[in-house]
Amino acid sequence: MDYKEQYQKRCVTPGQAVSHIRSGDRISINNAAGEALVLVEALMERKQSLRDVEIVQMIPMGNSPFAQPGMEKYFRHNSLFVGGATRGTIEAGHGDYTPCYFSRIPTLFDAALPLDAAFIHVSLPDEHGYCSHGVSVDYAKHAAECAKLVIAQVNPEMPRTLGDSFIHISDIDYIVETKQPIPVLNPPVISEVEKKIGEYCASLIQDGDTLQLGIGAIPDAVLLFLKDKKDLGIHSEMFSDGVVELVEAGVINNSKKTLHQGKSIATFLMGTRRLYDFVHNNPAVEMYPVTYVNDPLVIARNDNLVSINSCVQADFLGQVVSDTVGSKQISGVGGQVDFVRGAYLSKGGRSIIAMPSTTKDLKTSKIVPFINEWSAVTTSRNDVQYIITEYGIADLWGYTIRERARKMIHIAHPAFRDELAEQFEARFHQPF
Ligand code: COA
Repeated sequence: MDYKEQYQKRCVTPGQAVSHIRSGDRISINNAAGEALVLVEALMERKQSLRDVEIVQMIPMGNSPFAQPGMEKYFRHNSLFVGGATRGTIEAGHGDYTPCYFSRIPTLFDAALPLDAAFIHVSLPDEHGYCSHGVSVDYAKHAAECAKLVIAQVNPEMPRTLGDSFIHISDIDYIVETKQPIPVLNPPVISEVEKKIGEYCASLIQDGDTLQLGIGAIPDAVLLFLKDKKDLGIHSEMFSDGVVELVEAGVINNSKKTLHQGKSIATFLMGTRRLYDFVHNNPAVEMYPVTYVNDPLVIARNDNLVSINSCVQADFLGQVVSDTVGSKQISGVGGQVDFVRGAYLSKGGRSIIAMPSTTKDLKTSKIVPFINEWSAVTTSRNDVQYIITEYGIADLWGYTIRERARKMIHIAHPAFRDELAEQFEARFHQPF
């Protein structure tokens, strides 16, 4: 049977596709912009006939209807990265969070969380019958390899990204054809504080470095200050529109990379249509599963790897809290630790954790003597290297805990420095 026949045989309506889900099943839903929204909607429509369906997902981009109050009878949300749509749910106990490094999420599906079904979202098939996982290869590819049932939303809007990013239609059980825009993440508004932080981060980046950038205003602010650099490379769990600008400006060309020279490497993408058009069929961009991109030993094969991520709190010891505010789970570990460790092992590598010195209302210092009760350490003091705020750079690597505390106070907001100095004196029994 040629692939067109195989394709046609698998095409069903959304309702028919999700009719194969049973009570008690565990389903993985794609990460971020790869979420198959049509399949989620169809699943919600038949919720009355379901009980205890467990939904596992990393970053939610849609409104996560299955995770809203009142849905507990039908669905159990097991979050691998809490987002805006699910923070309230997890906080109220209507769903749960499972801590796991991003690089290890596919291995959860092999052991702790075997999948009954995977809802994936892919491009149109090519002339050989292969669809691309597009903007979300990360755990989606492995989910489709190990789930008992694979349901794909096939969408001409999904870019055909290259690399180890393909699934053959013979490996899909049911296909739902849709034409739907890929969810968009608009570039953030960058504040003066974030600009200053971006400038400090950029001061640690040299020509020829390979970069990993997290999501949000700070990574985008860093990119603003890289316009005069040369021969930069990308090996990042994700990237957004800012990278496209620097490729077009000739700043990022991947020419000095020691792994995948000439290619930008990522495992997922989030941005605007401009980004999705840029990566479509682009041989200069390759997407791989997260077990590869985020493996610290793979990251380390890139000499001069600089990782830049953000956090919500850091203490005198350099313990970094990125995904909890006290007992509230606000996001997830994602790839932060994967990349901090990869950068640590990379020849010439550097890892940066960057954050504003206070919360937006200026009322709370993000630099504290000790992390909040119930908060969880994301990056440990043994792994941390540079911490940056709008007041400067604290290089903690190789420094004693007392020296670290002094450096941290120097990059705290001036309004909190006296109080922090008193805490220093109480803790270390000597003048600040
Ligand atoms: N005390 C109390 N509340 C705090 C706080 C603190 N020290 N720091 C942040 N918050 C609150 C903010 O007010 C905000 O609340 P709101 O949404 O109700 O306004 C919320 O926590 C999120 O903080 P914000 O600073 O707006 O987050 P951000 O969008 O800049 O993202 C991280 C920062 C740390 C949450 C994000 O980078 C992350 O999740 N990192 C971990 C994962 C990672 O690094 N992955 C690798 C790259 S993809």
